[in-house]
Amino acid sequence: MSLNGPWTLSRIEKTSADLVEPVRHHLTALCGRPEEHARFLNTLSLLEHIGSRKILTSQSRGPLDCETLKHLAEEARHAFFFKRTAERVAGRPLDYSDGDAVMPAAARMYFGRLDAGINRMLADEIPVEVPYLYVSMVVELRAIWAYRLYNDVLVDSGLNISLKGLLAEEELHLPQMAERLVALGEDLDATVPAFARLEDALFRGLWRSLAVLPTVH
Ligand SMILES: [Fe+2]
Ligand SMILES: [Fe+2]
Repeated sequence: MSLNGPWTLSRIEKTSADLVEPVRHHLTALCGRPEEHARFLNTLSLLEHIGSRKILTSQSRGPLDCETLKHLAEEARHAFFFKRTAERVAGRPLDYSDGDAVMPAAARMYFGRLDAGINRMLADEIPVEVPYLYVSMVVELRAIWAYRLYNDVLVDSGLNISLKGLLAEEELHLPQMAERLVALGEDLDATVPAFARLEDALFRGLWRSLAVLPTVH
């Protein structure tokens, strides 16, 4: 496993360098608009919830070992954290509908297409954990990239929201996924570039739809 492999953070920092300023700019603007910000936080809750549910459904036939259950529990807690924060900012209960989240259909599509695309690219005869580990790994890379940026913006905005605890968990998930894949005989340097390219295209598509926020009256 090379330190500069395609699964590393330095790689995504390079490929997404052009996204940093527009994303930061948009997040900064969101922090000044509580109602929209709450809907965005609620969309992050939805994405975390989809992530935890995908672990559950994809591993229901697998051993569902302690480490996988821990990952599942942590992703479910991230969904709870964002939902609770979103409701605090909104001052009301929120669900995952169009009115309460930002383009929830686009968020679902991002995850669904990534999952389907990675599954399609993998061989048929593989251990049941492999697709879950690859999808998680690619999502962890994006989550760490985005949450670091978002946390910096939140600190600057003076809002009392910190992603530090959540980020620490995502930063542990990434090497765990990589190590388990290598233990199963996967060659990450050979497989991950295509998955990361797919994720990059899907994230850019998702970001384009999320950044065009319809104003809710
Ligand atoms: Fe998460
Ligand atoms: Fe994670």
